Amino acid sequence: MSELPMVVPEPGLPERVTIYEVGPRDGLQNEASSVPTEVKAEFVRRLVAAGLPAVEATSFVHPRWVPQLADAADLMSGLVAELGDRARALPVLVPNERGLDRALELGLRHVAVFASATETFASKNLNRGLETQFEMFGPMMARARDAGVEVRGYVSMCFGDPWEGPVPVEQVVTVGRRLLDLGAGQLSLGDTIGVATAGHVRALVAAFGEAGVGPERLALHFHDTYGQALTNVHAGLQAGVTTYDASAGGLGGCPYAKSATGNLATEDLVWFLTGLGIEHGVDLSAVVGASTWMAGHLGRPSPSAVVRALG
Ligand code: HMG
Ligand code: MG
Repeated sequence: MSELPMVVPEPGLPERVTIYEVGPRDGLQNEASSVPTEVKAEFVRRLVAAGLPAVEATSFVHPRWVPQLADAADLMSGLVAELGDRARALPVLVPNERGLDRALELGLRHVAVFASATETFASKNLNRGLETQFEMFGPMMARARDAGVEVRGYVSMCFGDPWEGPVPVEQVVTVGRRLLDLGAGQLSLGDTIGVATAGHVRALVAAFGEAGVGPERLALHFHDTYGQALTNVHAGLQAGVTTYDASAGGLGGCPYAKSATGNLATEDLVWFLTGLGIEHGVDLSAVVGASTWMAGHLGRPSPSAVVRALG
């Protein structure tokens, strides 16, 4: 079996894509058993070494809300001591000023705020409302901007919410625009529970376009609950989006969203892009190695089809 697919480009797709790796954060945040800080650090090191240009390393959220990532400061200070500016450039989740203080103390340069497109998930994930979440983000984002820190903005529940059902595209665009107006550099549209389908992806990207937000400012963040993630990436590529979030080995889920399963596996995405001749700069066998190593620590095999085929 070949370790790489045959390359057959498809006209009209982007030439190059950025893969934004979320395995150490989205992948591990939901793990029931505590993963040692040193194991997390080695996972990050391996993913950086595999050529992934952005590796979201952890979250500076309330430790009681996400106990698995309570060691965020220890993890990042160890990585900064070892890798210097390369570690300071790793993105971390930050919901509020307290989180920003913790990130700034370590000299981190890239944070990601996470908004909800729905009232219910804003309450469950952030202890805020659809409107009041911005009162929490605004001062944090202003301070980040003044400190020269790059801010990514996530919007969760863009394609459906387990409590509220379908989410109108206009509601998602309104939340996304608010984050951009507050200074987010890039907007990552999250399919938190994996219910998106290809036409819906095209419709949402088009709705952002109509609101003056082109595909170059967007990233797509798919969970693979219904096996649609790669088809949805294809729809995103056709719509001109060039940044895709993925998690090594397909780890992941959100502790505050019932029915959220793993993210699109980085390996499945790399295989798909490679077959289309789209540049991504990632060493597939190195990511498979990192995921297989992590699966050994977690005590269960990766759900990724590509990891199973190559691992
Ligand atoms: P809250 O309880 O409303 O916080 O939680 P608060 O502002 O009222 O503060 C209460 C106490 O918490 C205070 O301490 C604060 O200092 C402390 P006290 O004065 O009582 O001693 N505190 C903190 N401590 C450490 N770090 C902090 C922090 N903030 C406050 N950052 C809060 C509000 C946002 C903090 C809470 O709801 C929270 O931490 N939520 C995080 C939930 C989370 O991480 N979810 C998973 C990530 S999102 C996701 O996975 C989706 C995504 O992948 C995209 C997709 O798939 O769609 C991104
Ligand atoms: Mg997610």
